Amino acid sequence: MILSPEEEAILAGEEGETRARMLEILVALGKVYGATRLIPIRSAQVSGASYKTIGHWGLDWLQHLDARVSVPTVLNPVGMDRSRWREMGISPEFARLQEEVLAAYQRLGVAMECTCTPYYLYLTRYGDHLAWSESSAVAYANSVIGARTNREGGPSALAAAILGRTPEYGLHLVPAREPQVVVRVEEGSRMTDAAHLGAIGYYAGKLVGSRIPMIEGIRPKKDHLKSLGAAMAASGAVALFHVKDITPEARIFHYQTSELEVIPVEYKEISDLMREVPVEAVALGCPQCSSEELTHIAELLAGREVQIPVYVFAAREIVARHPREVVAIEQSGARVFSDTCMVVSPAMERFQAIMVNSGKAFSYIPNMCGAAVRLGTTAECIDVATGRAAGRVP
Ligand code: F3S
Repeated sequence: MILSPEEEAILAGEEGETRARMLEILVALGKVYGATRLIPIRSAQVSGASYKTIGHWGLDWLQHLDARVSVPTVLNPVGMDRSRWREMGISPEFARLQEEVLAAYQRLGVAMECTCTPYYLYLTRYGDHLAWSESSAVAYANSVIGARTNREGGPSALAAAILGRTPEYGLHLVPAREPQVVVRVEEGSRMTDAAHLGAIGYYAGKLVGSRIPMIEGIRPKKDHLKSLGAAMAASGAVALFHVKDITPEARIFHYQTSELEVIPVEYKEISDLMREVPVEAVALGCPQCSSEELTHIAELLAGREVQIPVYVFAAREIVARHPREVVAIEQSGARVFSDTCMVVSPAMERFQAIMVNSGKAFSYIPNMCGAAVRLGTTAECIDVATGRAAGRVP
């Protein structure tokens, strides 16, 4: 790799031990993946923030770093709502350790916003280079916005945040963003809810793997694209997808269907995933809710009362923008939590079966929470929670 004189000086330790070690991480990555230089980034999003996932060793590593981030940087969701952790049933010991993780990041200058939807907080434009690490955020940034980021690990995202740059390889390069496989969804399917797109993503992601799909046959809204990408990133390893005539880069690549594998997706495969399973709780907001999703949930819950725990997750700033919707949701008995989510928090581990409207949560909950999982539309989740539809554990 060709480093600038300034980068050589950092590597030589002239700006401190931490910056030198962080640059070593970026240079090592660059060499492995054939980058020739480092390029500036606009923002970073760092995973490895929940004490549930990083544990004592991760905390110890963070506490020994001595530097400051040089671009806007947020964290992935952590293990609890920072102000309402008691209501989540989090133990004081876990809360203490989680706060220590957050304090370590705060000392590095990372914003205390813990979210997998940083695109709702930071202006992120087409062509921006980023260093984001949460898989659904990476898929959204690349695919829906047309920004450019590889799927960073926690340490490489933090290194990029501290140095304000990242090695130029992979999805930072336009030729690497071409479609490699076609996913053809049965036209006319009743795909009206984020859960349907999550189910498509869950099904297709397993077959697509880490390739870049061009998806045909759907016309999703932005929130549906979010759900689709999150699920493909979870069941497969999709970091970028195109949707024909919809996503910003779909038009710039000319592909021949005859030269690419075509994966058909039929409605039957989607409906098979949405089987009825009795549940003890409902969790909504994976990825964390947008303003529109929070408003939709508030409308569905208006004047109703939940009979099982219902947790809704959204970034703290999104919650702050919608005080009326949050009150409406909580009047039903449901709870709106920030900073965390159903997967990275230990709070959901006490349930045996959980209903979700997300293909990604559907993919992760069995392993991460040890619970059975049911996938349904947002309206079906609310109907089950409020007793309007069967499906609760008796
Ligand atoms: Fe976000 Fe947690 Fe889902 S990090 S994408 S809400 S698993």
